[in-house]
Order: sequence, then C-alpha cells, then structure tokens
Amino acid sequence: IDEAVCQMYPVLIGLMGCGKSSIGRLLSQELGLTMLDLDHYIVDKAGKTIPEIFDEHGEEGFRDLETEALREVLGTPVVIASGGGVVMREENRIMLEAHAPVIWLKSSLHFLANRIQGDDNRPLTAGRDALTVLQQLADIRYPYYSQCADYILHRGKMNKAASLHAVLEYLK
Ligand code: S3P
Repeated sequence: IDEAVCQMYPVLIGLMGCGKSSIGRLLSQELGLTMLDLDHYIVDKAGKTIPEIFDEHGEEGFRDLETEALREVLGTPVVIASGGGVVMREENRIMLEAHAPVIWLKSSLHFLANRIQGDDNRPLTAGRDALTVLQQLADIRYPYYSQCADYILHRGKMNKAASLHAVLEYLK
C-alpha cells in the first residue's frame, strides 16, 4: 500500500445506484482502510431502516441524521460511501468542500434508473418511475456534486474494476 495514498480518506458522492458502496468497498481494501457506508451508519445508529426513518420523520428528519452522521465520521480514517442526497444540505456541502479527496461517480441516468428501479429500500424512487425521479434530482444535485468534488469519474461503460483503477490512478 502506497503511504501517500494511504493518508487520504476518500469520500464517494453521486446519485443512487452509481456504485458508491461497491466501489467504496474495493477502494477501502486497496487503501487498507475501513469502508463506512453512511446509510448503514445512520441505520445502525437509529435502529431503523431508511424507509422507516422517512416514514416516521420525513425526508428532513433523515437529512438531520445524515448531517449528524457526516459530521461524526468525516476525516476519520475510512472510505466513506455517502448517500446520494448528502449534498442537499449547505452545511454538508461546506464540510465536503473543505475535505479531500471527494470523488463523484457519474453515470448515465438510464444506467442508474435500471439499477435502482423497483428497489423498495430507496424511498425517493419507491413506487415511482426511477428515471423521472433521477432526472429531477440530477437537475438539482449536479451543480452541488461538482461544487464538492475534487475528481469526477465519468463511468461510461466502465465496470467496477476499471472504475477502481481510475480512482486509484487519480489518488496516486
Ligand atoms: C438518497 C439516497 C440513498 C439514501 C436515501 C436518500 C438520496 O442512498 O441515503 O434513500 O436522496 O439520493 P444511496 O445513494 O446509497 O442509494
């Protein structure tokens, strides 16, 4: 493991389904770091699933927990796979802008929609047309992702291994 690369604690951002968790896991193994999935961290802490949190406390309640979680883990020696909406709060964008490296995994909306359509664990798209929702989210979030990101990986047709390789090249 490269010492210089190892001093960095990457944060992965991007829309639902873009591979933050799966590439984050591979990246954490390469860097010898723990992988921290921000959604899992919130679920463990709350003792409730993401749909339960949305049902009981609404999206804003979830965003409160997400902001608290980000504040707790950002800068600790882990690879963070964030939730797609982490950039929605200005407070979070400020934290992410001050942190490096933040990596935006960008894929086509059609590719993402195919991956997440029918997944009940994602309240924002459950029971709705995923592509339509993603288009609306992209309009709002793309400027935020680019504001926070130090590096944008345009995945195109890149598989996980190729994506991992590209991120590692960037981190070198
Ligand atoms: C959300 C994305 C989800 C999860 C929650 C809200 C979003 O995480 O945090 O359902 O607002 O885009 P993933 O990006 O890991 O699916």
